Amino acid sequence: MPVHDSLLKTTLGTVTLNNPFLLTLGPPTASGEQIRHAFRLGWAGAVTKTIVPDSMEIEDVSPRFAAWKGKDAGLLGFENIELLSKRSVLYWTGEIAALKAEFPDRFLIASIMASPDPEEWQELAGAMQDAGADAIELNVSCPHEMPERGVGAALGQHPGLVRELTRAVRGVVKVPLIVKLTPNVTDILPVAEAAVEGGADILAAINTVQCLMGIDLETLEPLPSVAGSSTYGGYSGPAVKPIGLRIVSQIARELPVPVMGIGGISRWQDAAEYIAAGASAVQVCTAVMWDGAGIVRDMNAGLAGYLAEKHLAGPDALRGRALPHIGAHAALSREISRCAVAEFPDKCTSCGHCVVACRDGGYHAISLVERQVVIDRSRCDGCSLCSHLCPEGVIAMQVRPQGNRR
Ligand SMILES: Cc1cc2nc3c(=O)[nH]c(=O)nc-3n(C[C@H](O)[C@H](O)[C@H](O)COP(=O)(O)O)c2cc1C
Repeated sequence: MPVHDSLLKTTLGTVTLNNPFLLTLGPPTASGEQIRHAFRLGWAGAVTKTIVPDSMEIEDVSPRFAAWKGKDAGLLGFENIELLSKRSVLYWTGEIAALKAEFPDRFLIASIMASPDPEEWQELAGAMQDAGADAIELNVSCPHEMPERGVGAALGQHPGLVRELTRAVRGVVKVPLIVKLTPNVTDILPVAEAAVEGGADILAAINTVQCLMGIDLETLEPLPSVAGSSTYGGYSGPAVKPIGLRIVSQIARELPVPVMGIGGISRWQDAAEYIAAGASAVQVCTAVMWDGAGIVRDMNAGLAGYLAEKHLAGPDALRGRALPHIGAHAALSREISRCAVAEFPDKCTSCGHCVVACRDGGYHAISLVERQVVIDRSRCDGCSLCSHLCPEGVIAMQVRPQGNRR
């Protein structure tokens, strides 16, 4: 047994997880076989691809993905216009029963969606519970096509509808009930509160952010182009992490239910940030599509190492540690002021990037003198732009000495 096993035990409401990492719904959980493979690699749980009644037609288009990559070809953001599970209810009840028999210690969540009629949701939730699912997750957050059918994000953007649907399903399930929220709202709290009022035990956030990935400038077709046309899709991957963190922290600050953090998690550090922002556990989709389910091994090992180094007894001890430090802008300190300094001048290549940026987007405080970066403290306003864009890490922000305020 790896040393970190006991260190990673995580509490999610009334449930104890082997570690905080769950494989989330999307292509990585489209079949029982993929979930089985993931469990063998060490994922503590999984959420099935959203299961729909057999009467609900699901026909995917091709292609259905688009990717935004950095200069090194690493993934920055990912768009999908994929629909829900194409497998039957019978397939899923069989797989859920088989997975629970083989992996009784893993947390298996059945994600469901049906027509706007709550009775269909109740029936589907009951079938998944009877098959042995440990929890039911309501997908009221898919941003594409489903809203055209009056479900998905079309439900999840209206607190009243979320409350009603959650209450209806709560009436028929005994296992924990999870509501997965859409970030495509102006304020997450009314919807999150409505889910809790309706009886949700756990919240999950975020589903994908509605987007238009780009336009092919040769053909002028939007991306992903499906025979020349496209639609608004769901954005995921590293670029959405700041949105997920904001939403998870807002829920954790205001509501008394556990929240699972989702969105842009690809390294253990991302997971640790979500937990510090209040998440009880995390879910991962795009990173698994890009790099495979085996990433859980590094995530588990990395998080365990971090917890040990910080003398934290487990993920529960890290949970919410950053929350007391998040507040109103007006409450931020004006007492301590920082200014830029060339901390590692030997690393400077005289590229001049900081000079131009500070001149045109800052305070005209930086110049190059004999190929060395020189910062005029009396002009520096402490905005920090130069420290972010210097490719060599030459510039750091230091506390301005007292009496030296600009
Ligand atoms: C290709 C793809 C398919 C997805 N399918 C579903 C789905 O069926 N139901 C659902 O609730 N979320 C679905 N999602 C959303 C993910 O579960 C997750 O909320 C989102 O991608 C953000 O996490 P990530 O950045 O780790 O991918 C899908 C995401 C992707 C990329």
